[in-house]
Amino acid sequence: MEIYLDTAKVEEIREMAWIVDGVTTNPTLAAQAGRPFREVLQEICHIVRGPVSAEVVAQDEEGMVKEAQELAKIADNIVIKIPVTVEGLKAVRRLKALGIKTNVTLVFSAPQALLAAKCGADYVSPFVGRIDDHGGDGMAVVAEILRIFENYKFPTKVIVASVRHPGHVVAAATLGAPIATVPYPVLQRLFQHPLTDQGIARFLSDWEKVPR
Ligand code: E4P
Repeated sequence: MEIYLDTAKVEEIREMAWIVDGVTTNPTLAAQAGRPFREVLQEICHIVRGPVSAEVVAQDEEGMVKEAQELAKIADNIVIKIPVTVEGLKAVRRLKALGIKTNVTLVFSAPQALLAAKCGADYVSPFVGRIDDHGGDGMAVVAEILRIFENYKFPTKVIVASVRHPGHVVAAATLGAPIATVPYPVLQRLFQHPLTDQGIARFLSDWEKVPR
C-alpha cells in the first residue's frame, strides 16, 4: 500500500520524504502552510517525486479547467484535485482528454466514486474520518468503492483520506485500498508502540549487566 502525507507543510514533507509515496494538499492545508501556495507546491514537487495533489477553488467547469492547466505547469507530478460536483466531473473529463491527472475529492458515497471513475478520474478520495464524524461508516464506503472498481476494472485508484488514526490505515490496508493519505501526527503514530519503547529500555538496561 502506498502512503501519502496529507499536508502542505514543507518541513513535515522534508522529514518524511524517505517513506512517503506522495502528498495531498487542500485549501485548508494551504492556509496552514502560511506561504504563497505556488511557491510551496514547487518545493513539495521537488522533494517528493510521487503524485502531489493540488486543489482548484473555481466552482465552474471552465474555471476549474483553466486553474488546473495553470497548476499542472508547476511540475509533472502535480495531480489536480477536483470536487465531486457536476461541474467538477465535467472538468475531469476535459482534463483527461488534455492528459492532466485528477484526484476527485470530497467523496462521501459509492455512487459519487462510480461517477468519478466513469469520467476518467485517476484517483478518488473518500473522506473516511468525516463520514465517521457524521455517524456513518467510512470504511464501509471504501469497501463498496473498491468492489465497484474491481467489478468494472476501473483503473481509478482509491486514496483513503480524512484519516484520523492508525486504525483507519490498518482498515484501509486490510481492505486492499491502494493508497491512504495521512496527516503528519498519524504517520508518527504508525511507527510507535509502547511495548517497543519498553522492550528497548529493558534490553539496554540488561546489556549493562553483560560482563565485558
Ligand atoms: C484529502 O486529500 C484531504 O486533504 C484530507 O484527507 C481531508 O481530511 P480532514 O477531514 O482531516 O480535513
